[in-house]
Amino acid sequence: MSYIPNENRYGKMIYLRCGRSGLQLPSISLGLWHNFGDVDDYANGRKVILKAFDSGITHFDFANNYGPPYGSAERNFGKLLREDLSAYRDQLIISTKAGYDMWPGPYGNWGSRKYLLASLDQSLHRMGLPYVDIFYSHRPDPDTPLEETMGALAHAVRSGKALYAGISNYPADKARRAFSILRELGTPCLIHQPKYSLLERWVEAELLDLLEKEGVGCIAFSPLAQGMLTGKYLKGIPVGSRAQRADGALQAENITPEILDKINRWNVVAQKRGQTLAQMAISWLLKDPRVTSVLIGARTVEQLEENLKAAYSTSFTQEELKDLNL
Ligand SMILES: NC(=O)c1ccc[n+]([C@@H]2O[C@H](COP(=O)([O-])OP(=O)(O)OC[C@H]3O[C@@H](n4cnc5c(N)ncnc54)[C@H](OP(=O)(O)O)[C@@H]3O)[C@@H](O)[C@H]2O)c1
Repeated sequence: MSYIPNENRYGKMIYLRCGRSGLQLPSISLGLWHNFGDVDDYANGRKVILKAFDSGITHFDFANNYGPPYGSAERNFGKLLREDLSAYRDQLIISTKAGYDMWPGPYGNWGSRKYLLASLDQSLHRMGLPYVDIFYSHRPDPDTPLEETMGALAHAVRSGKALYAGISNYPADKARRAFSILRELGTPCLIHQPKYSLLERWVEAELLDLLEKEGVGCIAFSPLAQGMLTGKYLKGIPVGSRAQRADGALQAENITPEILDKINRWNVVAQKRGQTLAQMAISWLLKDPRVTSVLIGARTVEQLEENLKAAYSTSFTQEELKDLNL
């Protein structure tokens, strides 16, 4: 059936300015690392994405290697764009990245200009798009001059194949240099995409202050630690969950007794706040004005609907914050 979006969608979401740029992002964005590859049910993925758009989520995040197999998430999204969302391209922020192993040989990985620009062309081809909104260097490359990697991002923007440049997984010192190079090239960095959750707080040491000072936005990935911060693993490993799937990036052995102990204690705080653990984990990230958007994954419409409620409960008492500081 042809898709007609909910006309009230923009009243359902909070939009936050991304650093000191002109771009606003939804406080909750949807990533398609999992759940939209060829191994997944396309009809279900379509429902999740359209539900997200109907709920005011305008930002959908990809990388060249999302699937599995690699590239299939972008290809499937291309089909969805053609069949359902073609009239709404100007209402969407679509991002992709290059930086991890994508094709054989020396030009299919890391941060060379050769790899980044070829990969962007391939991503555009798979999605059937003339440009993406944000193109990221997916990770720093220790062996390629930062000037070359940032030069490739700047070229992508100047050539019109990307509207903005971003970096992901860069530690603070490299990020600082990257911002300076991009600024000199006339294509300032829009956004940094680090892993950030109750369980993974490395960004708090230095990076968040740097982003604020530099006027760069922050989109936090894996806010639910791939599902560990949802309470679903408190009673074992449920069928269909990421830790149970052979193609999932979460291994059962990652869910250690120490993590289970923390999850149990955080779950008590969430219950007292009248939230689920998943909602509280997202709200906790959004309490910080330096965080522009929280980049969730959702396998089902029900998960998405539960998570969306987090956007409106972002204040925490000092006592709650203390209890969450484990
Ligand atoms: N830049 C990078 O290097 C990088 C790396 C990783 C991710 N990312 C980006 O961040 C996005 C999100 O990452 P992520 O998928 O790890 O995020 P996440 O939100 O931490 O985990 C998503 C998973 O948690 C489970 N889940 C979500 N909501 C739930 C709920 N309400 N109740 C129970 N389970 C729930 C689902 O797993 P089940 O299948 O178990 O139900 C879902 O697939 C990715 O799609 C990608 O765009 C970027």
